[in-house]
Amino acid sequence: MGKIHIEKDRETRRVLHAFAKSIQERDIITYEHSRRVATYVQRLARHMGWSRRDARNLASAALVHDLGKTWIANDILNKSAALSEEERRKMERHPIIGARILIGCDVDPFYVETVLYHHEAWNGRGYPVGLRQEEIPLSARMLSVADVYDVLTSQRPYKAALTKDAARDRLLQSSGVSFDPMVVQAFVQLLETHPNFTLPQHIYAIPPVMPRKTGPLPSPRSFITGS
Ligand SMILES: [Fe+2]
Repeated sequence: MGKIHIEKDRETRRVLHAFAKSIQERDIITYEHSRRVATYVQRLARHMGWSRRDARNLASAALVHDLGKTWIANDILNKSAALSEEERRKMERHPIIGARILIGCDVDPFYVETVLYHHEAWNGRGYPVGLRQEEIPLSARMLSVADVYDVLTSQRPYKAALTKDAARDRLLQSSGVSFDPMVVQAFVQLLETHPNFTLPQHIYAIPPVMPRKTGPLPSPRSFITGS
């Protein structure tokens, strides 16, 4: 590996990790989800024979795959009921927004296309473009399986978490429909060889507001000594 590559990788990681930090500030649930997806897809890439470096780069892309969501309004982002048609259209712009931000940072096209196409489907019915099968970059096909596995095994206010086996069955049902069958097969092999594959979920609660201290405020004079 050349020195320029190593430097470029480092610089890209710095940029992507700064964006990941901004996701963490904006939306902790998406941030934690992205961290788990990054781990899953890195394991998948190694299992599929990718080099350590390529697998790590894919994990960095996964860390920011939902970056575009930081620009989606709170009432849509945090809505637990079903989205209206209009809200769904806005939400489905997040891969484009994320890709545009990354283009502006001059990162390698690998990251841009992985983020842009992570909601494309094998049968051509995904978004934002509607690419089909091998038209979708392999990195995005892998990311979409890891992404959905985490959503299935996560608890949300409106749904319970599926077990590993139930999630595996759902992935298999969508193999050749939403997902590349070859990628699903590799992911399922991984699940079957790792007894503790699913990463722990943190449940976040809004911290309680501290009660205001009652009673009169101390007079400013009381802070002045010697008067
Ligand atoms: Fe997404």
